[in-house]
Amino acid sequence: MAASCDSLLPLVLLLCLSAQAVDRSNFKTCDQSAFCKRQRELKPGQSPYRALLDTLELSNSRLSLQLINDNNKVRLLLELYRLQGNMTRVKINELKPLKPRYEVPDVLLSDPITEALSVVAQDENSLVVSLGGKDQRLILSAQPFRLDIVEGSQVLMSLNSRGLLAFEHLRTRKDTISHKISSTVGSMWDSLKSMFSSKSESEQAPGQENVEQQTDEDGQIKEEDDKPGMWEETFKSHTDSKPNGPTSISLDFSLPGVEHVYGIPEHADTLKLKNTDGSDPYRLYNLDVFQYELHNPMALYGAVPVLISHSTDRTMGIFWLNAAETWVDISSNTAGKTMFGKILDFVQVSSEAPQTDVRWMSESGIIDVFIMLGPKPADVFTQYASLTGTQSFPPLSALAYHQCRWNYNDQEDVKTVDQGFDEHDIPYDFIWLDIEHADGKRYFTWDPSKFPQPKEMLQGLMDKRRKLVAIVDPHIKVDSGYKIHNEIRSKNFYVKNKDGGDYEGWCWPGNAGYPDFTNPEMRTWWASQFAYDQYEGSMENQYIWNDMNEPSVFNGPEVTMHKDALHGVWEHRDVHNLYGLYVQKATADGLIQRSEGVQRPFVLTRAFFAGSQRYGAVWTGDNAAEWGHLKISIPMCLSLGLVGISFCGADVGGFFKHPSAELLVRWYQAGAYQPFFRAHAHIDTPRREPWLFGPENTALIREAIRQRYALLPYWYQLFYNAHRTGQPVMRPLWVEYPDDFATFSIEDEYLIGKDLLVHPVTDEGATGVTAYLPGKGEVWYDVHTFQKHDGDQSLYIPVTMSSIPVFQRGGSIICRKDRVRRSSSCMENDPYTLYVALGSQGSAEGELYIDDFHTFSFEEAKQFVHRRLSFSANTLSSRNLAPDSQFSTASWIEKIVIFGGSQPSSATLKSADGTESALEFEFDSTLAVLTLRKPGVNAAADWTIVLR
Ligand code: GLC
Repeated sequence: MAASCDSLLPLVLLLCLSAQAVDRSNFKTCDQSAFCKRQRELKPGQSPYRALLDTLELSNSRLSLQLINDNNKVRLLLELYRLQGNMTRVKINELKPLKPRYEVPDVLLSDPITEALSVVAQDENSLVVSLGGKDQRLILSAQPFRLDIVEGSQVLMSLNSRGLLAFEHLRTRKDTISHKISSTVGSMWDSLKSMFSSKSESEQAPGQENVEQQTDEDGQIKEEDDKPGMWEETFKSHTDSKPNGPTSISLDFSLPGVEHVYGIPEHADTLKLKNTDGSDPYRLYNLDVFQYELHNPMALYGAVPVLISHSTDRTMGIFWLNAAETWVDISSNTAGKTMFGKILDFVQVSSEAPQTDVRWMSESGIIDVFIMLGPKPADVFTQYASLTGTQSFPPLSALAYHQCRWNYNDQEDVKTVDQGFDEHDIPYDFIWLDIEHADGKRYFTWDPSKFPQPKEMLQGLMDKRRKLVAIVDPHIKVDSGYKIHNEIRSKNFYVKNKDGGDYEGWCWPGNAGYPDFTNPEMRTWWASQFAYDQYEGSMENQYIWNDMNEPSVFNGPEVTMHKDALHGVWEHRDVHNLYGLYVQKATADGLIQRSEGVQRPFVLTRAFFAGSQRYGAVWTGDNAAEWGHLKISIPMCLSLGLVGISFCGADVGGFFKHPSAELLVRWYQAGAYQPFFRAHAHIDTPRREPWLFGPENTALIREAIRQRYALLPYWYQLFYNAHRTGQPVMRPLWVEYPDDFATFSIEDEYLIGKDLLVHPVTDEGATGVTAYLPGKGEVWYDVHTFQKHDGDQSLYIPVTMSSIPVFQRGGSIICRKDRVRRSSSCMENDPYTLYVALGSQGSAEGELYIDDFHTFSFEEAKQFVHRRLSFSANTLSSRNLAPDSQFSTASWIEKIVIFGGSQPSSATLKSADGTESALEFEFDSTLAVLTLRKPGVNAAADWTIVLR
């Protein structure tokens, strides 16, 4: 929630809360963001940049040379690296900046491993660099400067082919007043000079301007005229003092043959990114947008600057590693064409091949871009994961159902809701406490009258093997009686305002300070506050929710922090999009440390950046109880999954407004099949626990939640896989069917892993949905009716209120736990049922992963079970995929359901010790479903079942 009014007055905030839709005037358009406007005014085809080939330096894995801007004579340094795993890194910085420009730390896992580069050809205007791989080369043209990455005779991607490279160099201000303004920062730089002395000599601190850096061959820098907004920018009542003046950067990328690009979340928009000609670019600037609108490119709470391109030929990715405000323009030469126009082109063999052009613009920092060359979707995910890491592996319970609202009022309320679930026989794992639980919004405390005995409450939940999440936001009430505030202040850990005092802004507690999470010492201290002896009343079944970490500042520009606020030597401008990542990281570290490294943490965050996947889950913020918001939850989470963040969900039921019973039921049905499954509601909405909408709706919601619990083994295995390999859990169809053009724009259905296809009902009054079942020659089975359907067709499925259209891919084996209980922990040792869906060749494969479901012992100690289940030639077997792991489970296989086969005359179980036994079975000949009863083998054992 953003109280989006530009005022300090709580009364005005309240008035804002009753507004109906986003107040666009609170957020900048590109035209109102001075750098975006300047950048967009540049016209393609006029690149002033020239590569100086005689400055070429080549070491084993790094190629560098200088670029000169022929208009102003400023030189840039271009660095190229070939990275292991089919990636190329391109860095461009000023050759001799007046002081260092910000380079994003802590997002890459480590320095990427480089591979050898070699120049294979050179003439007076170009260089050809071998990238190894499949005859991949990089062609560098000197004038105008451009880079083309080619494979064989195919151009995969071109950089600066439209000539939109722009790099606003740091400059000294012409007037003296400005000098005074920047002197605070300048002196901080002086004192930190030593820090950078080990860096390249080009990185000078202020006051150390090297005259040479300002000159070219003719000894002349040609400073352009100042433009509005370069040295100061005012938006509404806020003035950004811009002590460093203009610092923005931009670069364009062309993707020949590409019509579909995805990614760059977070936007409440379609999965396939739209052409931005004639509209604003997509904006990446973490913001608390009150009552966000659907289908526009406005910024939202999180930002992942990763764009994925896909065509039948190839999948690639562009990772623009920059944490400042960023805008992304997309244009495609086929975007405006009708289907008829496209067909005509095809028939006439159009000379105009499809192409998508992407242009990134950031307010500060450097150009540091990773080009992931695929070629397949899975390769791009692996490549990106090798840079920024994979999804953290959540405790199993975090994948179960979460019950939240703003707020559960007191301990009694928590108890009543908890009992309500039991009374209505609905499972849940977590109950959540929002901001009202704390004493006057002083996080890490409990309201003494409403939550006098938090441990008693937590123990009550623990006795039922359930858990609790409490919110801990990063704005800290300025109150000399509040320990957390006093410590942060005394340790000098708050973000500073431009004049060096502690930055203060308005948020839930009133006047608040914002800890500087970019400071590692601050993060260590923050993490230590989660220790059981520090966070009084907390227990091991309490987990944490970080909200408002964009950061949200109710009275700040665009409801966030002033860009000239200071994090040590860096401006908030440089680090803005990273703030939320650091908050979640520090919190997750705290949860790990409080258990001495034993327990896996669970932390939900609203703001995020590239790499946030390593720290927990995200949700899509303050949506509304509207059908459009239910629908958009699918592309929003799919977009996040494509860029590494698999653990995504939307508030079930919608945060604002009151859902109709039908919408609520449909939302539960959809949410049950999305990775993070949590109901949540605004404080002003009527209560909406699952049993408040009449017995019929309670039954429908119960059934949806039960389906989720039964499927938890599959979700868990997919998260394990995402953690190990970086492959997304929730996938657009094209990820698994990359050659099927028909899948490229689908966003009303998706795959969970590769084996389940879900088409939730997201229309009011729906009597049917049309699902596209992909795969020529493949078959799909309705998981509820076992009915078999051919792939490569659009299928109309009539629906009733109880329908959740879900299909299992023929050729797959999915493990479920069909005995649903009060919570996932209560189901820990329950037996499994294997659902074997035979493919058109009569075979199937799947996996089973088991561990203790909540500790790190699956890592070094290798305490887990990982099995390959395969069915072929009438034989089903379980084989160990991890022979050096060890874990014993009490779980066993209680049933095997095989669909798509024929009736056997016998079924024989062969155990690892050589014993054989006959299994009972039933065959339903109408549906071709064979049910094998009670194999009874341990889930970790080797076994084979032979059908004859
Ligand atoms: C923000 C969150 C919302 C939460 C509220 C109160 O609006 O997005 O989920 O309930 O703050 O903490």
